[in-house]
Amino acid sequence: MILPIYLYGHPVLTTPALEVDPIDPILPGLIQDMFETMYAASGVGLAAPQIGRSMKMFVMDASGFDEKRFAHEKRVFINPVILQEEGDPWSFNEGCLSIPDVRGDVLRKPRIQVEWMDQDGKKQLQWFDDMPARIIQHEYDHLMGKLFVGYFSPLRRQMMQRRLDSIKKGMTKAEYPVFAAPPQGGRHKR
Ligand code: NI
Repeated sequence: MILPIYLYGHPVLTTPALEVDPIDPILPGLIQDMFETMYAASGVGLAAPQIGRSMKMFVMDASGFDEKRFAHEKRVFINPVILQEEGDPWSFNEGCLSIPDVRGDVLRKPRIQVEWMDQDGKKQLQWFDDMPARIIQHEYDHLMGKLFVGYFSPLRRQMMQRRLDSIKKGMTKAEYPVFAAPPQGGRHKR
């Protein structure tokens, strides 16, 4: 089932996600929905908070980025922990399904060691580099309640502010189902 992707401005995206119960019976269906939702939006990664679930898990399919090189990088990360990051930071122009129409260069270290549980409940420990490492770092940030626009310089942030404000109101040209948070601030009609 394709689920709506929660947009920038929804509090679930800026709240640290909760540990996942590995035997939670909703997991298999949720994982399938997350892949379907990610593919429908032509994404290469999707974190549970982006579909409104405050759970420490994300899916990735880096083959959407390069079919040949990353053919085997279709994975599910449950309760992941990045144990080590190393190398000289490299820049890449990132985007995020929760922040349509906004892109920006983000510096990240090229090599990471990750421990996680896969969809079969098996503990995994592995090093990643290149794009898979970057996708994992971006999705892992989501689980910490951190968005890639947080890495922008104050100037870039300011330039993007109007667009961010309209995304918050649900105004986007995204070609996939989205969900915007109801307006905050407790304003009432008089
Ligand atoms: Ni994202």
